[in-house]
Amino acid sequence: MGTTVAPPGSPEFDPIDEVITTVAALAPEIRSCLPGRRVKRDETNPSGEEQLEADAYADELLLERLGAIDGVVEYASEEREEVIAVGEGEGLSVGIDPLDGSSNLKPNNTMGTIVAVYDQPLPAAGGDLVAAAYVLYGPITTMAVARDRSVTEYVVDDGELEAVREDVALPDDPLVYGFGGRVPDWTPEFTEYAREVESDESMKLRYGGAMIGDINQVLTYGGVFAYPTLRSAPEGKLRLQFEGIPIGYIIESAGGRSSDGERSLLAVEPDALHQRVPLYVGNAALVERLESALA
Ligand code: F6P
Ligand code: MN
Repeated sequence: MGTTVAPPGSPEFDPIDEVITTVAALAPEIRSCLPGRRVKRDETNPSGEEQLEADAYADELLLERLGAIDGVVEYASEEREEVIAVGEGEGLSVGIDPLDGSSNLKPNNTMGTIVAVYDQPLPAAGGDLVAAAYVLYGPITTMAVARDRSVTEYVVDDGELEAVREDVALPDDPLVYGFGGRVPDWTPEFTEYAREVESDESMKLRYGGAMIGDINQVLTYGGVFAYPTLRSAPEGKLRLQFEGIPIGYIIESAGGRSSDGERSLLAVEPDALHQRVPLYVGNAALVERLESALA
């Protein structure tokens, strides 16, 4: 995929490609906005989390550029309460987590941008998803894109996408695990599962506090990532529209499994834009064991 796409009106114009290449083109801009925007704003997002200047800046930039694409009719993000109508008639709805893991900005650690493209109005279901992607701001900027149930990993060089891995598949022998939430806040069932995974000598703990960084480790090395149901928060922390469904789709497209504890994240019924969901993703055997442990 290059950043040259067919112009609107031409028979080859594909607004889904345009969304993906636009996010890639914005990645260097988002990266370059970060150094001066590590400070808190005096606002919280709709989930009650403190916003940084960088969260708000990336959200505005993404709204402006994605909202201008022909064929995109709705924009919604973790950083704003309501869906924004950016076009008329039927078309694509984009759900964005502008800066996933932005609490990692202060200590200068990994973060991401997550993109979910639906062909129905938001809130939409997993079956309405037509593409999902994330940018990972690591030592290198990379992007994982899932479409038609296939995942490609790209390096984002100067805003251009260069494919480095096609048909990405989770390795058969899982290596890493990362579990979010405070351990005393885990349920007894999840704690028992976690102890079992920890006691497997072939598995290593890798947890960075930004879901995208942790997910990319699972995509690369195989393993399991969870942000589970907590005693204090039965719905967990992550958001279905902006995090659960796109990440579930990417991991499932790479041959893994996703779950909310009972069913695929793609089968969870959406009732609200900022709805939270417990999230468990990774190699099929590990997610299946987890579902049995939680049953
Ligand atoms: O988007 C929410 C998020 O930042 C995720 O990227 C990450 O997995 C999680 O929150 C970490 O949350 P906490 O540090 O509160 O456990
Ligand atoms: Mn996030």
